[in-house]
Amino acid sequence: MSTTPAQAPVAAVIVLAAGGGTRMKSKSSKLLHPVAGRAMLSYSLDAAQTLNPDKLVVVVGHMREQVEALLEESYPQATIVEQPVRNGTGGAVACGMQALGDINREVVVTYGDVPMLSGETLAQLVATHREGGNACTVLTAVVPDPTGYGRIVREGGQVARIVEHRDATEAERQIREINSGIYVFDSAVLRDGLANLEPDNDQGELYLTDVLGYARLHERNVGAYMTDDIWQTEGVNDRVQLARMNAEVNRRILEHWMLEGVTIVDPHTTWIEADADLEPDVTILPNTQLLGATSVATGAVIGPDTTLRDVEVGENAHVIRTHGELSVINADAEVGPFARLRPGTVLGAHGKIGTFVETKNAQIGDGSKVPHLTYCGDAFIGEGVNVGAGTIFANYDGSHKTPTHLGDCVFIGSNSVLVAPVDIGDGAFVAAGSAIVEDVPAGALAIARGREHLSSDWVLRKRAGSAAADAASDSAGEIHSAVAEARAALREENQEDDQ
Ligand code: UD1
Ligand code: CA
Repeated sequence: MSTTPAQAPVAAVIVLAAGGGTRMKSKSSKLLHPVAGRAMLSYSLDAAQTLNPDKLVVVVGHMREQVEALLEESYPQATIVEQPVRNGTGGAVACGMQALGDINREVVVTYGDVPMLSGETLAQLVATHREGGNACTVLTAVVPDPTGYGRIVREGGQVARIVEHRDATEAERQIREINSGIYVFDSAVLRDGLANLEPDNDQGELYLTDVLGYARLHERNVGAYMTDDIWQTEGVNDRVQLARMNAEVNRRILEHWMLEGVTIVDPHTTWIEADADLEPDVTILPNTQLLGATSVATGAVIGPDTTLRDVEVGENAHVIRTHGELSVINADAEVGPFARLRPGTVLGAHGKIGTFVETKNAQIGDGSKVPHLTYCGDAFIGEGVNVGAGTIFANYDGSHKTPTHLGDCVFIGSNSVLVAPVDIGDGAFVAAGSAIVEDVPAGALAIARGREHLSSDWVLRKRAGSAAADAASDSAGEIHSAVAEARAALREENQEDDQ
């Protein structure tokens, strides 16, 4: 699309958001249902904002508390107006105009439930309106199935009026050019037109569309801007349409990132939400969802089978079959497969969170590794640490959560439990199978387990004649060669160290 020249701002945008949304069959307002991770209504407001209106008015009604909460939080500049009775689009705009008071110039009317409508399209609509010297300009589209929409009735090519599907004749129903419900009005014509509306239609409502007929009656120009991207005029009324809309928005988001240099191996199973941010040369493998404000730096590989929400992934990191939330994975780190990163996880550069590891509120220093079968919660881990397989950070005593601190270059032997709060100093070692309840000073070795006790020939005495006893008598005294060799090598190394 050609770049739109900078435009003088319009006087106001009125966003209609009072409708019922009953076909969603939901406890939450239709307008809060997410499209690509953001509330449907926020798209309309963001598009409206691009016009730099002097005033932004949102007309609320159905489930207004929910809608107002979103507006107050994210769009404090919006003026909220209640439509007390749902008497039609004309009634809704009249409420908005009342709140605006004495204004002139243009008023744009749009809906809260058209998430794909872009600011560019709104700008084109305003430009068309100005070029034509129009009193009203409507955004239209030619669609394959116009059922339910208002139809654009043209006379000699000019827009004459809009007729609702239910009020239309059979001949009018053949028209495939539909009213999107998005318009620019001259504010004086809009005000007069609204004052003259009558509910003389099948629904007994005040139809905003009748303002166009009013303008024509007073020999004012009514124009149209037709978009060929029909998705931009598409509303969401039920969850079937919501799913279709999400699929299309996702398709466009993926296309955008691919054109920005991201490899997406399987677009059909990849979901990237609107607020995610990716750098060129990222690779996304199948079945991956990048949700919320997730960001991925160049060279990183994500997936397959990975869901990240609000996770920051550094350069060249690899994240495989992982579920992560509110976490940071630094450059060149490795995560997964089968890892769960809960909020507050920070993995240092070149670090590792491996298979069947769950982390929560865990800071893991550069080059530190938690490779297998570990729960690591409320942990502060220095650099160059190795946490052995099956280690548990016991951070909860039934009533309190407390932290565990590991200094730099600590070694935790497999199957240890670190009972918080506990501090293990720099370079300290914990022997495999230990239950650590007291601090371990820097450089110490802690062994906290029962000694091995041997009852020689117990099987031969107590299980005589069994397969185990037969096996034992055949190999009495033998040690497997691999173990024997490893032990000899260790012994040699220790002797060298002692010299
Ligand atoms: C309206 C148009 C129709 C157009 C269609 C596009 C009229 C009379 N008809 O149809 O020509 O093709 O939109 O989707 O305008 N709303 C309120 N208060 C109300 C009624 C509606 O705020 O009292 C809001 C709704 O929340 C929604 C929008 O207005 O955002 C459209 O309402 P909806 O009932 O969906 O439109 P239709 O009347 O079917
Ligand atoms: Ca609708």
